[in-house]
Amino acid sequence: AAQPAPTGGTPPAADTLLLGEVSSLTGSQATFGVSTQRGVELAVKEANAAGGVKGKKLAVRVYDNQSKPEEAAQATTRLVTQDKVLVILGDVASSNSLAMAEKAQAAGVPMITPASTNPSVTEKGDYIFRVCFIDPFQGFVMAKFARENLKLDQVAVLQDNKSAYSIGLKEVFTQKFSEMGGKVLTTESYSQGDTDFRAQLTAIKKTKPQAIYVPGYYNDVGLVARQARELGLSVPLLGGDGWDSEKLFELAGDALDGAYFSNHYSPQNPDERVKKFIADYTAAYGGTPDAIAALAYDSARVAIAGIEKSKDLTGASIRDAIAQTKDFPGVAGTITLDEKRNPVKSAVILKVGEGKANFVTTVKP
Ligand code: PHE
Repeated sequence: AAQPAPTGGTPPAADTLLLGEVSSLTGSQATFGVSTQRGVELAVKEANAAGGVKGKKLAVRVYDNQSKPEEAAQATTRLVTQDKVLVILGDVASSNSLAMAEKAQAAGVPMITPASTNPSVTEKGDYIFRVCFIDPFQGFVMAKFARENLKLDQVAVLQDNKSAYSIGLKEVFTQKFSEMGGKVLTTESYSQGDTDFRAQLTAIKKTKPQAIYVPGYYNDVGLVARQARELGLSVPLLGGDGWDSEKLFELAGDALDGAYFSNHYSPQNPDERVKKFIADYTAAYGGTPDAIAALAYDSARVAIAGIEKSKDLTGASIRDAIAQTKDFPGVAGTITLDEKRNPVKSAVILKVGEGKANFVTTVKP
């Protein structure tokens, strides 16, 4: 089969240390990939400006996975066999990262996913890391907020049954919300890429929920929100980090006003470190970095620190160095990796209004 050309990054020179990245730069979740690429690039530029690592410059080889797991797996294989990268960064959607992790683990090349929250990703093996919280926490956070802050008793759920992320988050939310004395009236399903959600929303409307939990990705959620309003469902929608994209507001218009979602970071955080990151990002790319851009930046910095600390640049020595990440000052929270290669971090709750996501509260683990 023809080898697709790399979609970005600098060709490595002999004195270059090469990182790999697999991202959804095109396809249904394209903003995930674009944000990742920018966050990674910014971290690499900064490291190079500060003199590089072990006396060498860093470069990134980027492949697009078209928002598809099979492509993500193939791109990972290319990075390890052809490009021989030191570390792989990616992806965002958990289903893609699961496919990648299989290949990275088998090859003994460390992989750090910036934003995949499904617990199974890092369970693929001891070479697989992440710099974000996991869904057992994220599902608990929204269940608790719905019960304690919004005082909701009865909600409905609309899940994407093609996404490991959506299914996992639905399970945790349902379990936690029920344990806290709430009731999930019904769970309806769609498949990623569907454009008509009216049948599911009509079934949900009949159960008279006080809110609808929609743990999906922004491209689907935008349409769900509009169609819910068209059908006269005016209760708030609730969601998770998969909503995080500026495109969400374009797609949903004002149909999501009053909705809440959990996320990794808020650009409204007044922390100096966050402010500097936002200023640097905006100067380079325009716009405000979303959570994925922040996490991608953090993932690249953790990878670079691991390369710097590794004994001999072998996969095993870089893995050992990354595994020891402790109190690392990320822009999306401080990172200390546990023995399962996951950090323990806070989440934020954001409320949609005026075409953006506004900070409401932070929930600690
Ligand atoms: N957590 C999502 C997943 O695992 C991906 C995601 C992260 C999307 C952050 C948006 C923002 O699939």
